Amino acid sequence: MKVTVVGAGAVGASCAEYIAIKNFASEVVLLDIKEGYAEGKAMDLMQTASLNGFDTKITGITNDYSKTADSDICVITSGIPRKPGMTREELIGINAGIVKTVSSSLIQYSPNTIIIVVSNPMDTMAYLVHKSTNLPKNRIIGMGGALDSARFKYRLAEALGGPISDVDGMVIGGHSDTGMIPLTRLATRNGVPVSEFLSADRLNQVKEDTKVGGATLTKLLGTSAWYAPGAAVSSLVQAIACDQKKVFPCSVLLEGEYGFNDICLGVPVILGKNGIEEIVNIKLNDAEKANMVESAAGVKAVNDLL
Ligand code: NAI
Repeated sequence: MKVTVVGAGAVGASCAEYIAIKNFASEVVLLDIKEGYAEGKAMDLMQTASLNGFDTKITGITNDYSKTADSDICVITSGIPRKPGMTREELIGINAGIVKTVSSSLIQYSPNTIIIVVSNPMDTMAYLVHKSTNLPKNRIIGMGGALDSARFKYRLAEALGGPISDVDGMVIGGHSDTGMIPLTRLATRNGVPVSEFLSADRLNQVKEDTKVGGATLTKLLGTSAWYAPGAAVSSLVQAIACDQKKVFPCSVLLEGEYGFNDICLGVPVILGKNGIEEIVNIKLNDAEKANMVESAAGVKAVNDLL
C-alpha cells in the first residue's frame, strides 16, 4: 500500500506521521514544492520509527511526481492555510491553482489512485478535482466532516463531563463555519440520546462551539490546526487501505442524493477499498433539511468563484 501526501506542511506531515504510527501502509511519499522540505520532514519522521515502532517507509520528494507512481491513495494538503480572522473561502484564489496542477500531476503517474482532498476551501477544491480530472466519483473524497465530527465529540464530552469514547456524533454539510451541521438530534452517549443529559441551550452551545472549532484554534495558534486534521485524514486513509467499510462524513459529489446535484457536500459514506463504497442516506428532519439547503447554497456560491 503506497500513499502519497502532497504538501509536507503542518497537516501533510502530521498525516504522514499518523499513517506511519498506525503501521498499515508499506510506503508514504511526502512531496512538497519547497526544495528539501519534504526530504527533511521525511528524514525526521523516519528517525521516530525505532522509537514509535513502525515499519512504514517515509520518503521525501521535491516536486518530482514520477516518485509518486502507482500510489493507491493520494492526499492533497498543498496550499495556504488561513490566518486568524480569515475564512476558508478566502483561500480559493491561491489554492485552486495549486490543487488543479497537483491533481493532474498525481493522476499522470497514478491513474487508478483514490484522491483525498484536504486543501481549503475543501468542498470547492473537491469539486474542482472532479471537474478537472473526470475521475469516477467514488475516487474523490473531501476530508472535512471527519475532523468536524471529532471536534463535535470533543465538545459533547466536555458538556457531558464524561469520556470522549462514550460519545458518538456526526457533522454533515459544508466544511465552513456557517455550513457545518452538527447533528445534535442523532448524537448519543453510549447509545442514549444526548438530549437526555443536556438542555437545548447547552446543546446549542455545543453546536456553535463545534462550528467555530477551526477558527478557535486558528486564533490560538496563529495558523490553522494540524494534529486533528492529520489524524482525521489518516483515519480515512486507513479505512480505504484496510477495506474497513467504516462510516465517515465526507465531501462527495452528489447526483441526486439528499436532493442535490453537481456539488460536493459532506454526507455520511461507507469507506472501503474502492474509496466511497456507498453514500448513506439518513432521514433528516425539516430543520436539518433546511440547514443542508443553506449549506449547499454557501458551497455553490464559492464554487461559482472557480
Ligand atoms: P502549511 O502551509 O503548513 O503547508 C502547506 C504546504 O504546501 C507547504 O509546505 C507548501 O510548501 C506546500 N505547497 C504549496 N504549493 C505547493 C505545490 N504546488 N505543490 C506541492 N506543495 C505545495 O499549511 P497546512 O496548515 O498544512 O494546511 C494545508 C491546507 O490544508 C490549507 O489549505 C488548510 O486550509 C487546509 N486544511 C484543511 C483542513 C480540512 O479539514 N479540510 C484542516 C486543516 C487545514
